[in-house]
Amino acid sequence: MLFTDLIEKKKKGLALDTEEISFWIKGYVDGTIPDYQVSALLMAIIFQGMDDRETLDLTMAMMHSGDVMDLSAIEGIKADKHSTGGVGDKTSLVLGPMTAACGVRLAKMSGRGLGFTGGTLDKLESIPGFQVGLAPEDFVRQVNELGIAIIGQTGNLVPADKKMYALRDVTGTVNSIPLIASSIMSKKLAAGSDVIVLDVKYGQGAFMKTVEDARKLAETMIRIGRGAGRRVRAMISSMEAPLGCAIGNALEVQEAVMTLMGQGPQDLVELCVTAGSLILTEAGAAEDMAVAKEMLEKAVADGSALQKLEEMVKAQGGDVSVIRHPEKLEKAPCKTVVTSDRNGFINGADALALGRLAMQIGAGRATKEDDIWHDVGLVLNAKPGDHVEKGDPLVTVHHRQALTDDWMQALKGAFRIDPEAGELPPLIMDIL
Ligand code: URA
Repeated sequence: MLFTDLIEKKKKGLALDTEEISFWIKGYVDGTIPDYQVSALLMAIIFQGMDDRETLDLTMAMMHSGDVMDLSAIEGIKADKHSTGGVGDKTSLVLGPMTAACGVRLAKMSGRGLGFTGGTLDKLESIPGFQVGLAPEDFVRQVNELGIAIIGQTGNLVPADKKMYALRDVTGTVNSIPLIASSIMSKKLAAGSDVIVLDVKYGQGAFMKTVEDARKLAETMIRIGRGAGRRVRAMISSMEAPLGCAIGNALEVQEAVMTLMGQGPQDLVELCVTAGSLILTEAGAAEDMAVAKEMLEKAVADGSALQKLEEMVKAQGGDVSVIRHPEKLEKAPCKTVVTSDRNGFINGADALALGRLAMQIGAGRATKEDDIWHDVGLVLNAKPGDHVEKGDPLVTVHHRQALTDDWMQALKGAFRIDPEAGELPPLIMDIL
C-alpha cells in the first residue's frame, strides 16, 4: 500500500477503507509514514471530511495504537465524563463525588489546562500533596474501594493521538469534526468506562463557536461511542460566560467544595446535576432524570458527596483538612476588586477574554512547558443577568504581580453592561 494513494483518494473526496486507515495509524505510530505525508492527508480531510464508517475506523485504530485500560476488575458499571473544555469548568470535581455517593463509580482520567481552558489535574494539584499519577492497578483498586479516582493519563494510552494532535496543532488541521471526535473518543474508549457523558460546549470560550457545530460534534461522538458498544449521552452547553464564578485553580477547588456543601453558583449546580442525572440513568442507578436529580441533591444535602471528595483526596495523598476548610487553600498575596463604572444589567461576561486574562496572570499556560500559579485567578462578583450599580464589585482579581493598565482595561471590557436587560442563552441548550 502506498500512502500517497490515500492522499490522492481523500483529495478526490473518496472514503478510505478500513485497511487503509489501519495502515495510516500503524505506519504513523511506528515512524514509517512521515509527518509531512500525514499533514497532507489531514489537510485533505479538513476539506473533504470523513463519513461515519471512516470516523469510527479511525477512532478504533487510534484507540488500539497503545494500551487499553482493563476496568473489568471494578465491580458494576463504570462511568466517565468528558468536557470539550472551557473557562471555570470545575464540573468533574463536583460531579464525580456526587455520582460516587449515589453508587455509580467514576473512573476518570483528566488532562492539564492549555491556553484559556483550565484542566482538572491542575485544579486538583492545588490541594497540597494531591497525587494525580496513580499506577493502573492502584487506579482500579481505588475506584473499586471508594467509587472514585481522578488521575492523569496512565500507561501508554492512544499514542497515535498524542503524536497526531501535536501535528494538527502546527499544521492548521485541528478544526475538523471527524478529527476532533475521533481524537476525543479514542481516548475515552481506551479509558475503559461503560457509560460516557459528554459536555460539548459552544460559545466564545469553547472550541465550537456555534450551537450547530457543537451539535454536529456531539452527534458524531455519540455515534462513535455507540458504534463501539458504549452507552453515551451528551449535553450541549453554553460557554459564552465562565461556568460558576471562580477562574483559577485553588479558587475553583474552593468553589467546587462550596458547591458540595450546598452553596454553589446556580449554573454550576445545574450542569453538575444534569450530567450526574445522565450518568445515574445510563448506569441504571435511577429510573429517570427526576429520580436521579433527587438522589444527587440528597447526596449534597446529607454530606455524603462531600465525604466522597474527602475520601478521594485522602486516598490520593492530599491534605484533607482543606476540604472542610477551603479557606486554608493557598492564597495569592494580592487582591484587587474591580468595580462597575456605570449602572446597568450585565448582558455578557466574555469567557474567552476572561480565560485569557486569568492565564496572563499565571492561572494557565500559554505553552505546555509553562509553570502555573495555583493561587491566582478571578472571582466574578456579578454574573450575566445581574444588575449592578456604579461602584459595585464586578470581579476580584487574586494576583501575585502588579496589574498593568492594559490588562485592567481588558478586564473591564470583558463585561457588557447595558441599560436594559438582554436575552441570555440557556445554560444547557440540549441533551442528546
Ligand atoms: N480535544 C482533543 O482531545 N482532541 C481534539 O482534536 C480537540 C480537542
